[in-house]
Amino acid sequence: MCGIVGYVGAQQAAPIVLEGLVRLEHRGYDSAGLAVLGGSGLRVGKRAGRVRDLAEALPKRFSGRLGVGHTRWATHGPATDANAHPHTDTAGLVAVVHNGILDNASALRAALTDAGVELVSDTDTEVLAHLVERSGADTLEGKVSDALAAVEGTYGLAVVHADFPDRIVVARHGSPLIVGVGEREMFVASDLAALVRHTTTVAHLEDGELATVTATGFTTMRRDLTTTHREAATLDIDPAGYEAGEHASYMRKEIAEQPESAERVLRGRIDERFATAHLGGLGLDPRETRGISRVKVLGCGSAYYVGQMGAALVEELARIPADAEAASEFRYRDPVIEPDTLYVAVSQSGETVDTLLAVQEIRRKGGRVVGLVNVVGSAVARECDGGVYLHAGPEVAVASTKALTTMFLGFALLALQLGRVRDLSIADGRRLIAGLQRIPDQVREILAQEDEYAEVARQLATAESLFFVGRVRGFPVAREGAQKFKEISYRHAEAYQTSELKHGPLALVEPSVPTVAIVPDDELVDRNVAALHEIAARGGPLVVVTHPGVDLGDVPATRLDVPRSERELDPVLLTIPLQLLAYHAALHLGHDIDKPRNLAKSVTVE
Ligand code: F6R
Repeated sequence: MCGIVGYVGAQQAAPIVLEGLVRLEHRGYDSAGLAVLGGSGLRVGKRAGRVRDLAEALPKRFSGRLGVGHTRWATHGPATDANAHPHTDTAGLVAVVHNGILDNASALRAALTDAGVELVSDTDTEVLAHLVERSGADTLEGKVSDALAAVEGTYGLAVVHADFPDRIVVARHGSPLIVGVGEREMFVASDLAALVRHTTTVAHLEDGELATVTATGFTTMRRDLTTTHREAATLDIDPAGYEAGEHASYMRKEIAEQPESAERVLRGRIDERFATAHLGGLGLDPRETRGISRVKVLGCGSAYYVGQMGAALVEELARIPADAEAASEFRYRDPVIEPDTLYVAVSQSGETVDTLLAVQEIRRKGGRVVGLVNVVGSAVARECDGGVYLHAGPEVAVASTKALTTMFLGFALLALQLGRVRDLSIADGRRLIAGLQRIPDQVREILAQEDEYAEVARQLATAESLFFVGRVRGFPVAREGAQKFKEISYRHAEAYQTSELKHGPLALVEPSVPTVAIVPDDELVDRNVAALHEIAARGGPLVVVTHPGVDLGDVPATRLDVPRSERELDPVLLTIPLQLLAYHAALHLGHDIDKPRNLAKSVTVE
């Protein structure tokens, strides 16, 4: 979604801001712009299209040592030059970049128009520039605070003003905002990815906070301008993680990194002596663990599908009723929050607004919620009662891969810990630990088959429409496979329970509609093979992701064998070939792998 970058220091701001915007491109956007403050006052350049188009269109002398930039994802009004950020007031003194949505923008626009202000864009953000300019406060912080008092909705924003040329004022309410500390220079951004080349010493603003950022430091305050004394901390992250390096795309790189990220999420969390896992960050003692009567997982998109895999693991291993629900729906059905339920929020970015709002709803009603989150210090991680960091490393591609593997393994550890406090035997605990420890090498084994998958993917890419089917443990795998395929290949890929085919979708099966079937060697293998026969009988081409030794009989199918794990852990390995099918189909079709159309990396608006 939209991205913000800002700089104030001794260097020219424009190149730094533009480079930061490029680093946010993966989040998805349709226009870009920047404003700099220099000797000749405030200058703004903005346009629909790519950051590189903007950079080429800027005049040679676009100088100034303070600047803010933005990548826009259209919400109010189409992607046009006029709607791109920054937005300014009529006199061109104030420039505002804004992530989020102002819910009362129509009313504010009408009031400004009635007051004689000529609005030049269709956006909600433009009102902020006018409100800042019209405030009677004598400091920029006061003006921003006055403007924010009038708006309803969500924002991460940065404001510059020609009368206050030493500072950027930023504010957060529902959209992330980070301040980065350099040597006599300071940065602001909506995402760490824009800053890591310059600094890893950062402060995350909390909702309701503002900050003044000058070349020599920053101060934070509440909206009433009372100070909050927030300090920056140096994060233990490797900036190289944000580079694609030798890989053709971030997605390809992140797929390849899975063996190592799987090792990291398991490291230090297995207790061989008691055949259990130790997730200290959950803050659950054994007595509390025994009192859990239900586990409810909440996430969005692929995180939700892995949440389904995770709920199944908890139910199988800990024998606690568990299910997963789309966080985006949860709060709107006025859910009953049960005191003995353990709620688990799962998110790579930790900024997905629907997941965050679900967490807030649970906590507001007195429920206990823990997080499985990748981005350290992110909003979901901060809001939860406890949690487990996934240690997948930075994930840049929109299509999530390595974060999902670590989510699954995080759930396996959680299920093991809950199970061993309850009725999971020590023998089963040992069996699962051995299975978990084999996973990184088994992922390497699967990745070594990439050429084979690439060939199959090229065939699948010719279809306009595909099914992905699986049963029980295989169904969330099929959902995730279809999700990955559709989001980067733009082919219609639909997931179904194999058992439901007869109840409708079989009507669509014909030679032009291939089915990717997940057929693990489990208690359902015979039923799955029977369904394959039905698809084949209708001329439906089949790709079967299965285990060595599974007898598919005489079904005509392209077979992709995946190493066997312990049955409960099979889903994570079955998922990896589906990532490669999606990746190679999209590559074959010539799509922009890391920036699929219409999608954003972290969805920070409802
Ligand atoms: C799909 C994908 C999305 C995310 C979803 C949740 O490849 O990446 O479906 O899984 O938007 O994002 P996070 O995990 O950041 O909450």
